Amino acid sequence: MVYGGSVEFKGASILSISQFERADIDHIFRVADRMEPYAQRQRITRVLDGAILGNMFFEASTRTRISFGSAFNLLGGEVRETVGFEASALAKGESLQDTARVLSGFSDIICMRHPESGSVADFASASRVPVINGGDGSNEHPSQALLDLYTIEKELKGLGRSLDGLRVAMIGDLKHGRTVHSLCKLLMLFDNVSVQLVSPKELAMPSNLVDDMREAGISVEESDKIEPSISHVDIVYSTRIQEERFSSRDEADLYRGRFRLNQAIYTSHCEPNTVIMHPLPRDSRAEANELDSDLDSNPNLAIFRQTDNGLLVRMALFSIILDVTHLVDKYASEVRWYNPR
Ligand code: NCD
Repeated sequence: MVYGGSVEFKGASILSISQFERADIDHIFRVADRMEPYAQRQRITRVLDGAILGNMFFEASTRTRISFGSAFNLLGGEVRETVGFEASALAKGESLQDTARVLSGFSDIICMRHPESGSVADFASASRVPVINGGDGSNEHPSQALLDLYTIEKELKGLGRSLDGLRVAMIGDLKHGRTVHSLCKLLMLFDNVSVQLVSPKELAMPSNLVDDMREAGISVEESDKIEPSISHVDIVYSTRIQEERFSSRDEADLYRGRFRLNQAIYTSHCEPNTVIMHPLPRDSRAEANELDSDLDSNPNLAIFRQTDNGLLVRMALFSIILDVTHLVDKYASEVRWYNPR
C-alpha cells in the first residue's frame, strides 16, 4: 500500500516525498523528537522485539544502510541485509518483483536502494510488506529529505526561526542528486521559501521540478556562481557530483571541484549564522573538496548533526509505519553499559 497523505500511515510504503502533507511532516518530526533518549542510549526500548527489517541495498551506501539498520535495532528489531547487485539473485536475471515476493515473506518491512529511478516503486508493487525508498537512481531519497528538513528545523529553532520563510542555497549536481530532488518537493509544503539553485548549466535542477516549485509559491533563482548565491541564505546545502550517474569518470571530472566552500569563502560571503549542510559523503579528494575540512571547526557545520538526526527520523518512520509509537516507552528499560555520551 502506498501512503496517500494523512497523519496515520500504518502499513504504508514510503516511496516519494509527494505522498506527504504538511501535517504528516510535523507528525514524523514530533515522533522523531521522542526517539532522542533511545538514540542517545539513555534508555533502551524493545518495542520491535521479534520484527525483521530486510535492508536491501543494490547500490553503494554506508550511512543510509547502517542508519536504517541501527534505527531498527534501537527499536529492538533484527536486521537482515543484502549488499550489492552482483551478490544478489538480480544478477541471475530475477525480476525486482520476484525478489520482492520472496523477500517480503522474510521481513516485516523492507528498505531498498537501487540504481534505477522507479525501481523501488516497482519492487514495492509486489511486496507484501511496507517498503521504504532508500534512494532510487537519481529520482528520490525521501528519508534523507526528511532528516535534512528535521535538521533545518532544529538549527533554525536555535536562532528563533521556523521553517516558513526559509532561504536555502542548493549547490552541485542538481540534475542527478536525488537528495535535492526530494528536498525541493518537501520545501513545497512550506510558506515563503526561497531557493537558490547553483550548478553547472549541464547539471541544473530538472525543469519540471523548478516549475513545480514556482507553482507551489517558492521563489527560485538559478545560477552557476556560488558566491552571490550564498550571501543571503539560512542554509547552504552542498552536494557531490554524482559520478556514478555519468558515462565515464572523465565526464564527471569536468564538473568536480567547480563549487568549493571553505572557511575563507564562508567568512567573506555568508551571513554569520548560515548553516552548512551536505547529505554526505562529501568528496574530500583534492580535485573535488566541495566542503573543505577547514570548515570542520565551524560550529555552523551541521553535517554530523544531520547523520545523528537521521537515526531519529528513521526510528520515527519505522515506529509510525509499524504502528508502535504509543508503545515505545512501555517497552523501555534502563541502559546497563557505560555510556560516554
Ligand atoms: C546521498 C545519496 O546516496 O543519494 N547519500 C546519502 O544517502 N546520504 C548523496 C550522495 O551519495 O552524494
